[in-house]
Amino acid sequence: METRALGNTGLSVPVIGMGTWSTFNVSGAAAEANVEAVVTSALRSGTRFFDSSPMYGKAERLLGHCLKAEPGDAMIATKVWAGNDAEGRQQIDNALRWYGGHVDLYQIHNLLQWRSHLDTLTALKAECRITAIGATHYQPPAFSELMTVMRTGRITAIQIPYNPIERDVEREVLPLAAELGLGVVVMRPFGEGELLRKLPSVADLNPLGSFGVRTWPQALLKWILSDPRCHVAIPATSRPERAAENAAAGNGPWFGPEERAYVAKLATK
Ligand SMILES: NC(=O)c1ccc[n+]([C@@H]2O[C@H](COP(=O)([O-])OP(=O)(O)OC[C@H]3O[C@@H](n4cnc5c(N)ncnc54)[C@H](OP(=O)(O)O)[C@@H]3O)[C@@H](O)[C@H]2O)c1
Repeated sequence: METRALGNTGLSVPVIGMGTWSTFNVSGAAAEANVEAVVTSALRSGTRFFDSSPMYGKAERLLGHCLKAEPGDAMIATKVWAGNDAEGRQQIDNALRWYGGHVDLYQIHNLLQWRSHLDTLTALKAECRITAIGATHYQPPAFSELMTVMRTGRITAIQIPYNPIERDVEREVLPLAAELGLGVVVMRPFGEGELLRKLPSVADLNPLGSFGVRTWPQALLKWILSDPRCHVAIPATSRPERAAENAAAGNGPWFGPEERAYVAKLATK
């Protein structure tokens, strides 16, 4: 799978990562074994970058458990999501314990209490317990505050939604990220599954065959990653075979403007 520098974070990431919201927040032996199978399939397919958060219930801890069972060179992107410092500190202590004392990318989830969490994370970075600091938000009305955080010069990555039906970041956020050299993690590549409810026909996908696209989810992932300002997309799935299918979209050739326009048209048909 193609690897890209995650902006100026110092991290290099294979371009298809994995999200864990809802899909990893499971209980019971059978459901947990299924999540382990998803992680195994992702790792075997070249996926290395896993995104989680204390907001995702049991997901953060279960991800740590799965990666212990499958030692390798996985990268952890998790988040602090707390309305006060004490709770934030507790979340960070938990995550550092679950992930072997180090987190690659620590993000401020939905900008909650970002000023004080940024101080905490800056101190942790100085102690080399985290490699990079990022911030996330999924709602366009919050993007102006996100850009305020980006301009502080204290974060090196953002996580934003981007897909053919959620394109608000094209206006200001992606240009600013490129100008500042920030890493860009793309959440919600399938619009939380919305873009997969109605699938284009095999004939519709045929013109994309020479780009290695076999399925509609692969077309959507390639649409995102064909924008060089995006460094890693993090689709979530609860099915091992889909982790492999998604990972297979992580190589060029990438789409040009014509193919991107074609996929966007199929997505809104
Ligand atoms: N504020 C934030 O920081 C924030 C907000 C939202 C999301 N995120 C992150 O972004 C990640 C991704 O976003 P998301 O989970 O909302 O949605 P998503 O990745 O856009 O879509 C997930 C859905 O797509 C389906 N899917 C995945 N691969 C598929 C395939 N090959 N074929 C058919 N269906 C497929 C999954 O169903 P199956 O399980 O049945 O495969 C699941 O229902 C999250 O998990 C989270 O880590 C962060």
